[in-house]
Amino acid sequence: MQIKLVEVGLRDGLQNERVILATEDKVKVAQGLIKAGIRHLEVTSFVSPKWIPQLADAAQLAHQLPPLADVVYRALVPNRRGAERAGQTPIHEWAVFLSASETHNRKNINKSIEDTYPVLREVMELARQQGIRVRGYVSTVFGCPYEGEVPTEQVLRVCERLLQLGVYEISLGDTIGVATPKAVKRLLRACQRHIPLEQIAGHFHDTRGTGLANAYAALELGVRTLDTSLGGLGGCPYAPGAAGNLATEDVLYLLEQEGIDTGIDLALVCETSDFVQTKCKRALPSKVLQSYLAQ
Ligand code: HMG
Ligand code: MG
Repeated sequence: MQIKLVEVGLRDGLQNERVILATEDKVKVAQGLIKAGIRHLEVTSFVSPKWIPQLADAAQLAHQLPPLADVVYRALVPNRRGAERAGQTPIHEWAVFLSASETHNRKNINKSIEDTYPVLREVMELARQQGIRVRGYVSTVFGCPYEGEVPTEQVLRVCERLLQLGVYEISLGDTIGVATPKAVKRLLRACQRHIPLEQIAGHFHDTRGTGLANAYAALELGVRTLDTSLGGLGGCPYAPGAAGNLATEDVLYLLEQEGIDTGIDLALVCETSDFVQTKCKRALPSKVLQSYLAQ
């Protein structure tokens, strides 16, 4: 079984940290993750630096990352301005994003869901002109911090519109970490009728400790791409309580013990997370990381 792990710590993780990491430290983190064998890294966002100051150095970082033929660097791009900025850097892939729930979308990107599509269409057009692949994120697919449960039809509608716009993959985001395996399987079965599973990624937040169980449920149903974050760094600043993406180490340990080889060295990921802990001045929540460091 081949599992693709997309490391989102430098983006989803750092966007939610109080401490702003220096660009050179972010480069060191990327180098550590690459040395560990990670090949897909979401490294930053070309969003408004007023909204996410932690990633204001997006362009500088992109230019300082080691150019390696087998490593894919991705960044979030919210609008034309973001696409123009990203387009002047060596970032390989872009990701557009919106929410399945109206209120979260407005809080996160200051627009209604319907008004977001023309903005994304512009991004897609600029990406097409430059031959850049674009992933689509749908947030709050299992629940919204403002609206509660999100109807499946609403999630499917947003996915369908993103696919029409030309994204190659959709990452389903449990932004506030409310899902449990039953909900994951229910939603994936509904999605599967319209979208091939090869085009779906699982993006779980571990806010309530169910991230790993949810990832396993997604794998059982046939999803082969998971977004994880080193040490469990992460969250969403516009989703109160959304702390901690599913930790890369926790997923790696599970996969390893289940006999699934990812080609990623767990110990080297832990070493990199330890560096991030020092820089962020807090212990990161990954249980596997903490157990590794205690040995
Ligand atoms: P806005 O204020 O509505 O934008 O923000 P605007 O078009 O009215 O522009 C206002 C100002 O921002 C202008 O500058 C623009 O130039 C500037 P001013 O004239 O005031 O000096 N601006 C920009 N500057 C740099 N880069 C840009 C850009 N765009 C406008 N791209 C906007 C709209 C989308 C920009 C804003 O709401 C924003 O940046 N939001 C980002 C929110 C964000 O990054 N959230 C976290 C990522 S999503 C997530 O974490 C979920 C995910 O992980 C999946 C999951 O877990 O569910 C993906
Ligand atoms: Mg996220």
